[in-house]
Formats: sequence, structure tokens, C-alpha cells
Amino acid sequence: MSKAPIRVAVTGAAGQIGYALLFRIASGAMFGPDQPVILQLIEAPFEKPLAALAGVAMELDDCAFPLLKGIVQTSDPAVGFKDANWCLLVGAKPRGPGMERADLLKDNGKIFIEQGKIIDAVAADDARIAVVGNPANTNCMIAASQAKRLPAERFTAMVRLDQNRAQTQLAQKAGVDLTEVKDIFIYGNHSPTMFPSFAHATIAGKPAKEVINDNAWLEGPFCETVGKRGAAIIAARGSSSAASAANALVDHVRSLVTPGAIHSIAVKSNGLYGFDANVWAGMPVRTTTAGSYEVITGYEMDDFAKSKIAATNKELTDERSFVADML
Ligand code: NAD
Ligand code: LMR
Repeated sequence: MSKAPIRVAVTGAAGQIGYALLFRIASGAMFGPDQPVILQLIEAPFEKPLAALAGVAMELDDCAFPLLKGIVQTSDPAVGFKDANWCLLVGAKPRGPGMERADLLKDNGKIFIEQGKIIDAVAADDARIAVVGNPANTNCMIAASQAKRLPAERFTAMVRLDQNRAQTQLAQKAGVDLTEVKDIFIYGNHSPTMFPSFAHATIAGKPAKEVINDNAWLEGPFCETVGKRGAAIIAARGSSSAASAANALVDHVRSLVTPGAIHSIAVKSNGLYGFDANVWAGMPVRTTTAGSYEVITGYEMDDFAKSKIAATNKELTDERSFVADML
């Protein structure tokens, strides 16, 4: 018997990431090849994005995806999030050259206050929320702060793009296929302060530190390249990463619905690994049942790792203070 469709709400559906994302969801890449979906597409209430959204919906129709069982197009979040099982919060302003992601906080933060409230009021009881719009960690914290019905663990933010970037950098440095690189996790903020924790990574089953044999590179250029990759892409392309961000969101959700998967997501801290309680920080998790996870504990941190975590934690607590009056 075929499965019942799940409802997937996507904000910013006519934006750059939306255009690279929706076709992957409808093709089965996110929820699997036997899981039908209804896409509930939400855009800002202006003529241009809504016209673009109508065009994207036409293209989705024209793909004749067997798994796509319906498309809702709306600028009303109460319609778009209604009964949604997954809420993918992409819609927000991207940064331009010379900006940091935190510069977006006041403008984008307002969006997440409103959406957090509405999701809590109208989404399905099993709703899961994944935040991509920057600054993703703090926007996720803002949205979760508005929820009374849905538990805070359901709100996650994306650091998978950073994990994927780190995996590729290690593979290229070691000269191996990237599938040989395992257990590289991202701690902290999706910003240049993030910490790609190389000390626990392995390459072809051996400690990455041993294989790379260049601690100065790991502590310096490696961390810097991963942390500043978003800015490098903006400088090169003139606009922020889109296809790789959409791909990372497919990976984030796919891993979260795959029991046993081990991956990095930003989740509400309960004080582990030196993060303040109640900031949303990247951490290693293991998916338990579809949509649920546990933080993997017990990784020992050396002095370098502790100082990197302290810096990214400080940035997260500063961002939280900056928006405290909005919550
Ligand atoms: P974009 O400008 O191309 O698209 C954003 C879309 O969101 C636009 O179509 C806009 O109309 C829409 N939008 C704005 N406010 C909205 C609202 N209140 N409700 C619904 N839709 C709304 O931007 P993009 O390149 O797709 O990037 C989207 C966000 O994702 C940005 O904040 C960007 O910085 C962020 N991003 C995050 C990561 C990550 O790893 N976490 C990676 C890449 C980009
Ligand atoms: C990225 O990491 O590519 C995105 O967060 C976009 C940005 O502003 O860097």
C-alpha cells in the first residue's frame, strides 16, 4: 500500500535556494523514493516573488513527478504552514559582499518571530522545523522561543553545508575520495567562528590528524576556509551559495529521517560541550527515530577545541542578547 503524502512547507520558495530545492524534494531525494509529498510554498506578499512562485509551480507541474501530490502557493503563512509535517524556513534576506550574517539579524529576526508563532498554532502535531535563513542558529532560537505546543528539540538549524565543506577540504588535502572522510562535525554558529572539529574525524579509518600530519594547516587554513567559504562564494558569484545550500538541506532532513544517521545539526544546547544553555549550537547527533535525534556525548576537547568553542559560544550569546528585546 502506498504511503500517505506528507506536507512540506517551504518559505522563500521562489528564491535562489528554493529553485534548487523544490525539485529535489519532489523527486524523492529528501524523504525517499516511496514517500509522496504535498508542497506548501510560501513567499513574501509582493507581486514579483508571487509571480515567480507561479512560474516555479508551473515547472514543478511540468516535471510530472510521481511523488508530488499537490502544490499550495500562498503569501499567508497560516495557509502555508497548515498541517505541515516539515517546515523548511529558507525565506529571508541573504547577505551581500562585506556583510556578516549577523548583520541580517534585526530584519530577518522579525520574520522568525511571526513564523514561529504561526507554525506553533497551525502545523501538524509531529511538525519538524529546519531553519536555513541567516543567521540560521539565532533565527531558529527566535522561532522556537515563540512555540508553546511544539517542543524546542523540533527546531533545528542547518550547519550541514559547513560539514559538507569540511569533509571535502579534508579529502582534498589527504588526496582521498571524500567518502573516506568520516565523523567531521561542526560545533557552534553558522558563521566564521564555527568549529569543524577535526580531532575526532577519521580518514580511511585512521585519525584525520595522523593522515594529514599538519596541525598548523588543520588549526589555521582548514578552519578558516570552512568558516569563510560562504563569503568566498559571494565574492566569486556575486550572490550567496544556493545549489550547495539546497543540497545541504536535503542532506540535513534526509539524515534526520534516517535512524542511525550520524551528522551535525544546530540544536538547543543544554550546556554540553561548553555551550550556554538555550543557544542553538551545531553539535554531532545520532538520529534515533525518524525526525528525532540524540546529541552524541563524550568527545574529549583539547585546549584548541575549547578555545574555538568558547569563541563561537560567545558569538551565539551575543546574538541572543542583541535580539533579547524581540523575544
Ligand atoms: P533569495 O533572496 O534568493 O530568496 C529569498 C526568498 O525569500 C525571496 O524570494 C523572498 O521573497 C523570500 N522571502 C522573504 N521574506 C519572506 C517571508 N517573510 N516569507 C516567505 N518568503 C520570504 O535568498 P536565498 O539565496 O534563497 O537565501 C535565503 C536565505 O538562506 C538567506 O538568509 C541566506 O543568507 C540563507 N542561507 C543560509 C545557508 C546556511 O547554510 N544556513 C546557506 C545559504 C544561504
Ligand atoms: C553560506 O554559508 O554560503 C551561506 O550562509 C550564505 C552566506 O551568507 O555565507
